[in-house]
Amino acid sequence: MDKFIIKGGRRLSGEVTISGAKNAAVAILPAVILSDEPCVIENVPSISDVNISLRILKEMGAEVENIGKDTYRIDPTHIDKCCVPYETARKMRASYYFLGALLGKFNKARVSMPGGCPLGDRPIDQHLKAFSALGANYSLTQGMIDLTADKLSGSQIFFDVVTVGATMNAMLAAVKAEGLTIIENAAKEPHIVDLANFLNSMGANIMGAGTDVIKIRGVEHLHGTTYAVIPDQIEAGTFMIAAAATKGDVLIKNIIPKHLESITKKLEKIGVSIEQYDDSLRVWVEGPLVKANVKTTPHPGFPTDMQPQIATLLTLAEGTSIITEGVWEQRFRYVDELRRMGADITVNGKVALVEGTGKLFGAPVKACDLRAGAALIIAGLAAQGITEIEDIFHIERGYDCMEGKLRELGADIEKVSVPDKASAKSDKKEAV
Ligand code: EPZ
Repeated sequence: MDKFIIKGGRRLSGEVTISGAKNAAVAILPAVILSDEPCVIENVPSISDVNISLRILKEMGAEVENIGKDTYRIDPTHIDKCCVPYETARKMRASYYFLGALLGKFNKARVSMPGGCPLGDRPIDQHLKAFSALGANYSLTQGMIDLTADKLSGSQIFFDVVTVGATMNAMLAAVKAEGLTIIENAAKEPHIVDLANFLNSMGANIMGAGTDVIKIRGVEHLHGTTYAVIPDQIEAGTFMIAAAATKGDVLIKNIIPKHLESITKKLEKIGVSIEQYDDSLRVWVEGPLVKANVKTTPHPGFPTDMQPQIATLLTLAEGTSIITEGVWEQRFRYVDELRRMGADITVNGKVALVEGTGKLFGAPVKACDLRAGAALIIAGLAAQGITEIEDIFHIERGYDCMEGKLRELGADIEKVSVPDKASAKSDKKEAV
């Protein structure tokens, strides 16, 4: 098992370039299945969730070629399998996007129930609601989801909750369905818009992505395209907070400022200085950090995927902050680990009170999920002393070479391998 060893107390300074967005890439790669020609996808992050998606495509019969540092040419025209086996699918939450893509292309799909970070209940009832509305039948047997449809027809889909995954899957299944599909109460995240833009670049007819009503007119064929994945909003936000937590001065490049608005506004409220340019922003800290109240909500609100990271920053601010988790039932599992580093956080259901004790101390800790791991890295960078983070496979699912980028900024962080048989088994846990 690998772990990170961080010697805290060093200010981050310099420039970092953000990679492609994980939550866009894991939807766009399965969407290539819908094309009748090869596609070239650029700005693909080098993370294990993407590697799993590419492996699934290859196992189905697609030709996958790495033609550049973060660029892949994928030819889906020889795909001859519509099944994603349990062993592969269980490792990644986003394996469920193969349901929508395979159904949309072949009118059938067989994918294992997805894994998923332990954030509380993660049902897929809204995904199944969308597929049924379009004319598909589904069955759940032995952990596998089977979808079949004689024909897919446009329909009205009203989601009971705002759901990123089901909005993406509804788009994937509807792009070639006959007639008009209207998705209401749709998610509006940047990666939703990115998937719609990708599909439209292949000849789809999708309007309204990024609003809560998305209209899709089915088309017969989707042609090949060359498309670049948007920069990762959450990676950018994570580096913004790392810069602030170490009282550093960092230029964050390859970003879309609009995607970071809620994060920028919240950090400025806490006392972080931020200067925005066209595709970059500078983050530094001059005065004291002060408390703030944070409520996570679907986009354009403060992203739930930034909640552990901002909680870590608020342990260093003056005063008591209140964090309300508005999306997931259990997204405070990282708090126990932060407490080991001296954090004073009280959790009651979906609300956490964060006391601004102003300092953290290095300790051995364990990442319990992707963003919890990112929060522990931030804590280690700001802490006095040495922090060792285990189970970093969670972090490597969603961050492209995090330790290399941090070292470039002056952090004292290294990855070491620890030959531990017991925990080796646990590195196959599901992803987010
Ligand atoms: C995506 O998960 C992201 N994962 C998550 O990011 C992110 O936290 C989440 O969206 C919210 O932004 C990927 O994109 C791979 P949802 P997803 O469907 O699609 C309920 C990370 O750190 N719901 O938007 O699974 C659900 O229980 C990960 O990158 C239903 O009730 O999230 C939750 O309360 C963690 N029924 C809410 O909706 C359904 O059928 C939002 O879930 C589906 C969801």
